[in-house]
Amino acid sequence: MDDLQRPAYHFLPPANWMNDPNGLIQWDGRYHLFYQYNPYAPVHGQIHWGHASSLDLLHWQHEPIALAPDAAGPDAGGCWSGCAVDAGGVPTLIYSGHLPGRLEAACLATSHDGLQSWQKHAANPLFVGPPPGLELEAMRDHTLWREGEGWAMLMGCGVRGVGPTVLCFHSPDLRSWHYRGPLLDPAKTDLFADPAVTVWECPDFFALDGQHVLLLSLWGGEPRRSAALVGSYSAERFTPSHAQQLDYGAIYFYAPQSFRDQLGRRIVFGWAMEGRSLAAQQAAGWAGVMSLPRELRLTTDGQLAMLPVEEVTRLRGKHCAWRDLVISEAELLVLDEEAGALLELELELQPGPLGGVGLSLRRSPDGLEATHIRYEVAAGQLVVERAQASLDETVEHTAHYAPLPLAPGEPLRLRIFVDRSILEIFANERVALTTRIYPTRSDSLGLALFAEQAAARLTTLELWQIRPIW
Ligand code: FRU
Repeated sequence: MDDLQRPAYHFLPPANWMNDPNGLIQWDGRYHLFYQYNPYAPVHGQIHWGHASSLDLLHWQHEPIALAPDAAGPDAGGCWSGCAVDAGGVPTLIYSGHLPGRLEAACLATSHDGLQSWQKHAANPLFVGPPPGLELEAMRDHTLWREGEGWAMLMGCGVRGVGPTVLCFHSPDLRSWHYRGPLLDPAKTDLFADPAVTVWECPDFFALDGQHVLLLSLWGGEPRRSAALVGSYSAERFTPSHAQQLDYGAIYFYAPQSFRDQLGRRIVFGWAMEGRSLAAQQAAGWAGVMSLPRELRLTTDGQLAMLPVEEVTRLRGKHCAWRDLVISEAELLVLDEEAGALLELELELQPGPLGGVGLSLRRSPDGLEATHIRYEVAAGQLVVERAQASLDETVEHTAHYAPLPLAPGEPLRLRIFVDRSILEIFANERVALTTRIYPTRSDSLGLALFAEQAAARLTTLELWQIRPIW
């Protein structure tokens, strides 16, 4: 029964499969999180919309399934991703009805009992693509906003032979739609310098700190990853001036969706998929975890940054701290052999002039199992080494790299969340890196610091035990 890998303070369904966050909305103060869900098995298929709600973004209550495929309906193959809007007081979902053999089609459902049960619109699907003149590889997923008296909606797509883009539609009433055109130039496939990316999935579009942001999930490239474009929006066109990867764990923060909460914050969740075999997922009985809720901000130099929402600090339990330590390049500095598997760490390191500095966590006392988080001074990058993270050879062991140039004298500041098999790292308030690790040993709980080539300094390290949310 003891599952060493099942996260205890991240959201996930009671069992089986979860992928994208959907329909994020705060309604009468309560936060609602819907998600792509297979209630029957821990594999992608027969996609429903699962539903949970929360008053604090931390503790979730499972709600009845919101949407299920209809054998005779336009969503017979699955209720794929979409969003929620407040349509004049009526909670309304727009989602992608999946039927093998055709492009996904926009469908609508409303609730009249406070988001508990959902009635599908009798005239679903609202329309079937592609718009005239376009040859598409895919067209799915939705983001909506009010424009004038009506609504604007984006769907992700890939134009055959041209590249990925997002298409914009307009409606006076959410039911009848007309095609307006691409939101941005579809020929700009070089935005992420990866011609293998053929489709942009899960578009999300919103104003933030005086700019507009388009979140995308890049499909086709290897690895899959989510990205952001920042720019300006006027006359129904979006002109990006900056492109970036959203999270350097790539596929472990995929299909992000955001919403504006009643405090005016732009909050995003992403899906952390598994990094282990289908057989292991089957044996575990669950697959997929939601990231912690993160607040999106633009930094002063125009980068999109994500940080865990402030509420997350309420989960902090037992605390300990270390200050002013020299980390010698000659030996590992073990801080705690039993730090734990449910942790938050906040630390500041001063790298030496050369080499690297870092920490090992989920470390077994003999050091055979450990995940290493290292800053490489010369390369100006943060590396997460998973080569030893698990003694199980069948799990993913690749490393992750995040560019993180530090200004002269700028220390490395890390905030790290460990929740059994999920690891979320936030560096210097500008870089996020999410990944999955699967330590096999119950004593892989240790925490150590190391320096390479030159001694380094730890200014402070604070460690909290995190309380499970269930
Ligand atoms: C992204 C995605 C979406 C689609 C959904 C299906 O992970 O492929 O494009 O709507 O998952 O579950």
